[in-house]
Amino acid sequence: MKKRVILAYSGGLDTSVIVRWLTDKGFEVITYTADVGQGEELDEIPEKAKAAGAVEAIVDDIKEEFARQYCLPLMRSGALYENRYTLLSALSRPLISKKLVELAHKYNAHYVAHGSTGKGNDQVRFETSVWALDPDIEVLAPVRDWEFKSRDEEIEYAKKHGIPVKATKEKPYSYDRNLWGVAIEAGDLEDIWKEPPEDAFEITVNPQNAPDQPEYIEIEFEKGIPVAVNGKKYNELWKLIWDLNEIGGKHGVGRIDMVENRLVGIKSREVYESPAGLILIKAYDEIESLVLDRFTYHYKLTHIAQPYADLVYNGLWFSKLREALDAFTSEIASIVNGIVRFKLYKGSAQIVGRKSPNGLYFEKLATYSPEDEFDHKAGEYFTKVWGLPLKVFAKANKKGIDK
Ligand code: ARG
Repeated sequence: MKKRVILAYSGGLDTSVIVRWLTDKGFEVITYTADVGQGEELDEIPEKAKAAGAVEAIVDDIKEEFARQYCLPLMRSGALYENRYTLLSALSRPLISKKLVELAHKYNAHYVAHGSTGKGNDQVRFETSVWALDPDIEVLAPVRDWEFKSRDEEIEYAKKHGIPVKATKEKPYSYDRNLWGVAIEAGDLEDIWKEPPEDAFEITVNPQNAPDQPEYIEIEFEKGIPVAVNGKKYNELWKLIWDLNEIGGKHGVGRIDMVENRLVGIKSREVYESPAGLILIKAYDEIESLVLDRFTYHYKLTHIAQPYADLVYNGLWFSKLREALDAFTSEIASIVNGIVRFKLYKGSAQIVGRKSPNGLYFEKLATYSPEDEFDHKAGEYFTKVWGLPLKVFAKANKKGIDK
């Protein structure tokens, strides 16, 4: 019996060559292509996959699942890898892996395959995710193993096997795009001193060329779910994210340029565009800061956001830790209600207003006007007690003028 493999297939040159290469090695290849909001027409994918040798080609629209099960919990966690990156690529890998495993079971395949290289994070994320869901499946990574020593050799092989190689000069960058944004690597970006060339960007305008008038937008949350933009309700979360990318992108919001620490030990220059991701993470945090007591809010910031970012980046989506952290953020989500008002202007998304039906801001407590209801005497005694340990310490250590 032929060995059967489910391949994560993008339709690009690498994964098409993989189809052929695996077929040559005696595998029966079934391709899987997910629509995660990469904004590409996928109609021609099955034809392409079959031309390369696939026995079956599956195309699957999983945008809503990606939005609800992956983007939403990430937003709630507040995760930004190294305080900057919205984790867009890291987020899609576990879902694609889950689909590969489901198909492996359905088609009785013992193997799944991906097109990641040996020096990136994605290989790790695919493989850890697959094993977490089915430890018996074997994962193949042909790009890591094959004999081609250069791009030219690969193209040579493609041509020999009738795999179409685009004649048009492609952009000299590597892209990964989904609902949560775009990751851009390689080419000129490898010079970390050089400003990213304008042609690298896909979904944001240069802030310099953004409209001269600011635009105000309002994002509404109900029980921790973004449900409306500017009063327009969305039933489909993916669509809300999609539209936010467009609105933010138009104002040049969401560009990230960083040198990040990859899991495999390399530092690499990464450029991202993630307008919706950044806006939603900021908006959610703003409502949390309003509805949570200080203790819970600070705990969230120090104990949840960063560990969550690291675990997602490091391929541990299907871990107990992620489930436990999600339980924490779900608990909080039940009271995240309200509206955040942004001013978008030439690359910035500034929060200029917020409100919540269960917010903890009481003007009568905060005000410096005669309406003030705060007990100032209480402030005095509180300060005395709070400062006592420092005072005692200073005395014991003979600080001060009297010694
Ligand atoms: N460095 C980012 C990450 O590890 C982006 C990876 C982009 N992947 C790609 N195949 N171009 O999450």
